[in-house]
Amino acid sequence: MSTSGIVYRPRRLRTTPRMRRLVAEHRLHPGDLVLPLFVKEGIDEPVAISSMPGQVQHTEATLHDAVAAAARAGLGGVMLFGIPSVRDALGTQAAAPEGILQRGTRIAREAVAAVEAERPGGRPGPVVMVDTCLDEFTDHGHCGVLASDGTVDNDLTLDRYAAMAVAQARAGAEVVAPSGMMDGQVAMIRDALDDAGFESVSILAYSAKYASAFYGPFREAVDSALQGDRRTYQMDAANAREGLREADLDIAEGADMVMVKPAGSSLDVLRGVADRSDVPVAAYQVSGEYAMIEAAAANGWIDRRSAVLESVLAIKRAGADVILTYWAQEIAAWLERPSPHAAATPTEGP
Ligand code: PBG
Repeated sequence: MSTSGIVYRPRRLRTTPRMRRLVAEHRLHPGDLVLPLFVKEGIDEPVAISSMPGQVQHTEATLHDAVAAAARAGLGGVMLFGIPSVRDALGTQAAAPEGILQRGTRIAREAVAAVEAERPGGRPGPVVMVDTCLDEFTDHGHCGVLASDGTVDNDLTLDRYAAMAVAQARAGAEVVAPSGMMDGQVAMIRDALDDAGFESVSILAYSAKYASAFYGPFREAVDSALQGDRRTYQMDAANAREGLREADLDIAEGADMVMVKPAGSSLDVLRGVADRSDVPVAAYQVSGEYAMIEAAAANGWIDRRSAVLESVLAIKRAGADVILTYWAQEIAAWLERPSPHAAATPTEGP
């Protein structure tokens, strides 16, 4: 026994930046990060999204540049969302061959191919993932087709998702990501993709997706027309067990990856899904999580970079293999060039 009587001194492993880096249990890597991107039909200049400072609705040309930049930064993926200029009750543009999301998908694939061609044998570019949901395409803003009583009709919606996923695959989507929380959507999409000859297109299922106030800024990002809410299809924040069941069902239906969303307020569910899932697990740090940190940082109330890195590292620690975050591009740049101060945190550095 030492004279102090203290036997265990965990602080020893925190003494220096070198030591902290050595014993870090989790690290961020650009290859784990997916950047969500918005492309809008019929605009000549990108449009700023005021509730998401630093994020924009892209033109087709600036989408190309953004995907190319993501490729150069070594990001693991991009997730595309489309904003059509025409909306209708069925969300017809969602599955149109020349719909904005299909155009965006082709552009993204071209941008990745162009950057990969610059340095053959170099780092692979991002996987092109596409949101498979009707809410950006319907005039009522719901994620599905409405029945005569105004509720979202699950089974009618599935046919639309199947057509949409096939159109996305035709345009070059490598991953389709059904986010509408309809029952049976993964099985339906898997069948449709296989029937159309796209058996190698993957499904990233938004499995445990909560009806969340943190999607608020996203509604501006996609010019959403939604009246009411999504509580009859997205999950209730009161439920954790249900999130695990949703993930189990999606895996059983053929999901190649499952997602928990929003990430920051569902870390318990994320941990639970990660513990029982034998497919990769993704988490989406959503628009409201982004907006909160940006707003606090803009006011000088928190240190932006530290808060961003801590929030994303927490998602990793909770079990995410893949993290969707609007900061993906910036984080990749930070990881490439750690600042002298940041080297003291285990989130950065090689
Ligand atoms: C549905 C979809 C939404 C988000 C991703 N996919 C909106 C919603 O379900 O209301 C939200 C993402 C975010 O808030 O960053 N297409």
